[in-house]
Amino acid sequence: MPATVVVGTQWGDEGKGKITDLVAKQMQMVVRYQGGHNAGHTLVVDGETFALQLVPSGVLYPHITPVLGNGVVVDPRVLIAEIDSLRARGVSCDRLVVSGNAHLILPYHTELDRLSERRLGKAKLGTTRRGIGPAYADKASRVGLRVQDLLDPKIFRAKLEAALKEKNAILAKVYNQLPLDAEEIIDEYIGECAPRLEAHIGDAVSVVHDALDAGENVLFEGAQATFLDLDHGTYPFVTSSNPVAGGACVGAGVGPRDIDRIIGIAKAYVTRVGTGPFPTELPISADAIGGIGAEGADPGDLAIGDYIVEEGHEYGTNSGRRRRPGWFDAVMLRQAVRLNSLTEVAMTKLDLFDALDEVKVCVAYEIDGELVTHLPYHQSTLHHAKPVYETLPGWKTDLSSVDGTGALPRAAADYLAFVEDQIGVPISLVGTGPGRSQYIDRSEAA
Ligand code: GDP
Ligand code: IMO
Ligand code: MG
Repeated sequence: MPATVVVGTQWGDEGKGKITDLVAKQMQMVVRYQGGHNAGHTLVVDGETFALQLVPSGVLYPHITPVLGNGVVVDPRVLIAEIDSLRARGVSCDRLVVSGNAHLILPYHTELDRLSERRLGKAKLGTTRRGIGPAYADKASRVGLRVQDLLDPKIFRAKLEAALKEKNAILAKVYNQLPLDAEEIIDEYIGECAPRLEAHIGDAVSVVHDALDAGENVLFEGAQATFLDLDHGTYPFVTSSNPVAGGACVGAGVGPRDIDRIIGIAKAYVTRVGTGPFPTELPISADAIGGIGAEGADPGDLAIGDYIVEEGHEYGTNSGRRRRPGWFDAVMLRQAVRLNSLTEVAMTKLDLFDALDEVKVCVAYEIDGELVTHLPYHQSTLHHAKPVYETLPGWKTDLSSVDGTGALPRAAADYLAFVEDQIGVPISLVGTGPGRSQYIDRSEAA
């Protein structure tokens, strides 16, 4: 089983970092295939927390080669800061390979992301303001600068000056901002960043294929998630790359036949950060979340929304933004199974339900009086989809007391069997806490 993809099945923050770290034990290489430092992947090892943005989550194992593939967008300043902070904690990034074909995030991307969000006002997307959208837009417009350009000051200067002409005109004429100075950017990117990253820049496609040819186990680590996918998510409230499993092929330069196993990560509930439709969204009390909970919801649901946010620590890994909570949505998951051809699901944070009397699963939507069991393609339809819930009994047991392969309490096993039946793929792993050893391996049973 050489090549595996780990992909988010909801709106991000499902616990991809934790599961990647877990699965990476048996891997020799972990490759990020899309996104940038909009990601925040948390790993908790021996009580120590690591919040990774760009460096692949396999980095904590000395035997792993971490790779940033072509499809990633790299802010070199952020990458260097992350390498340094990992080194300060005793984690070496010496083996890190950064694709020379990956695109660079430049200061004007971050600036334009921030300004366009501000200009949109209430209609903003709620981006991470890290320059992700503008960098991918330049890539598509063929005016982007790539990581390999850091190795050639002349080419870097020529491309930067050409790009800045247009960017500065936009900054001045559209946003009434001061122009950015090419020399300052060159000093920082060529003078400071290039010497630090030079040894890491390479041919990521060859590195990945050499590993696959040698029979090594390679893991492709998705960032963001299926419903933030540019083509398949809730557009325009999406990111600007393709997190779906097929994105691993494009972003890392492998063909579909190279991939054997696709693990979809799903939380036992759903969260979303940023704007956009969310059928199973639960209201939260104004105190807990600044009053942005779903409108018109049953006040009886208030407590559970607050409970998920506070007990689940549902705040952005790096941004600190509060996440919007909701019940598990099997309609979304069925679509994620299709879009990613999932072979299995790893369900994280089941421990959050340990204290609940009952647990809900959305099995269908009611749309204009009709029962719908698939995700509607039309955004307006999704906006007024009402969740139809099945309520299951809770297990009232501390799941962290169940060891790696131990038997689950009856109600928890029934819950998982119910979800498996709904989504049509086995749940091979269950997360019972943030720590590396807090999981139950069900692959034997699955
Ligand atoms: P990612 O972006 O998909 O990697 O997810 P994040 O790291 O942004 O958010 C997931 C959060 O849940 C992190 O704080 C993890 O430490 C935590 N986490 C992951 N799996 C579990 C689990 O099974 N139980 C609990 N309680 N926390 C978990
Ligand atoms: P991980 O990998 C959750 C969301 C933003 C916004 C939209 C577009 O930790 O799961 P962008 O900055 O990408 O242009 O923002 O996507 N978003 C995420 N939400 N987890 C993430 O990453 C996200 N990365 C982007 O909140 O709604
Ligand atoms: Mg995250």
